[in-house]
Amino acid sequence: MNNLIPKHIAIIMDGNGRWAKLQGFKTRIRGHEIGVTALRNTATHASEMGIKYLTVYAFSEENWSRPKSEIDALMSILIRSLSSELETLQKNGIRLNAIGNLDNLPRNCKKELQETIKATSSNNTMTLTLALSYGSRQEILIATKNIAKQVLEGTLKINEINDISFSKELSTYGLPDPELMIRTSGEQRISNFLLWQSSYAELVFLPVLWPDFSKEHLEDAILQYQNRERRMGKTSDQIEIKE
Ligand code: FPP
Repeated sequence: MNNLIPKHIAIIMDGNGRWAKLQGFKTRIRGHEIGVTALRNTATHASEMGIKYLTVYAFSEENWSRPKSEIDALMSILIRSLSSELETLQKNGIRLNAIGNLDNLPRNCKKELQETIKATSSNNTMTLTLALSYGSRQEILIATKNIAKQVLEGTLKINEINDISFSKELSTYGLPDPELMIRTSGEQRISNFLLWQSSYAELVFLPVLWPDFSKEHLEDAILQYQNRERRMGKTSDQIEIKE
């Protein structure tokens, strides 16, 4: 057991649709709306607990294949939330950041996003990164192409390709790797989220649906993380000697 609070937590917020259905709502949209409330509360609690980076999977590349009505609703929830949540972000010193193929977002959505990112850019309590139109394989492919281009242009030698030079080409450059990845709703998959970055992350799968996610669930996930032995390839004996 260690008492370390992870510096970076990544969350796959899953279960909004099932939550809406269980509550008897006709559409899945209400689940996404309450999902925003759960995200606001989680970001606030995380910043109060001293977590420096929180990255959430808000919309995957694969989510573009959902019905147009749901995509439109999600985009308008996102636009509305970006302006209505500005006060919460400022009050808690949260800097907003975004990763993913942002050019695929509707123009007004991208504009609102850029404005909120700019307005919060000097906050330094916690960085909240929204993964939007994000896919980790796509991100790794873009990085690989950039590396290949640098090799062709002669600005990078093949033996200079390593963890550090590769990480620089990822959209998460500047963020530390997450030590803890949480997925809600009981599904036990990573679903193309931060595949490179979560190489050594502890994975915690919680049965709670995202709209019901609370401070207690966040604390439970952190406790599970603290109870894990993070060997990073070493033996238990080596870890004990170090401690
Ligand atoms: C997964 O639940 C959730 C999403 C695809 C969207 C997550 C979005 C939010 C929490 C709101 C904040 C972000 C935006 C973009 C407004 P699901 O719909 O896959 O649920 P299911 O697995 O029960 O069907």
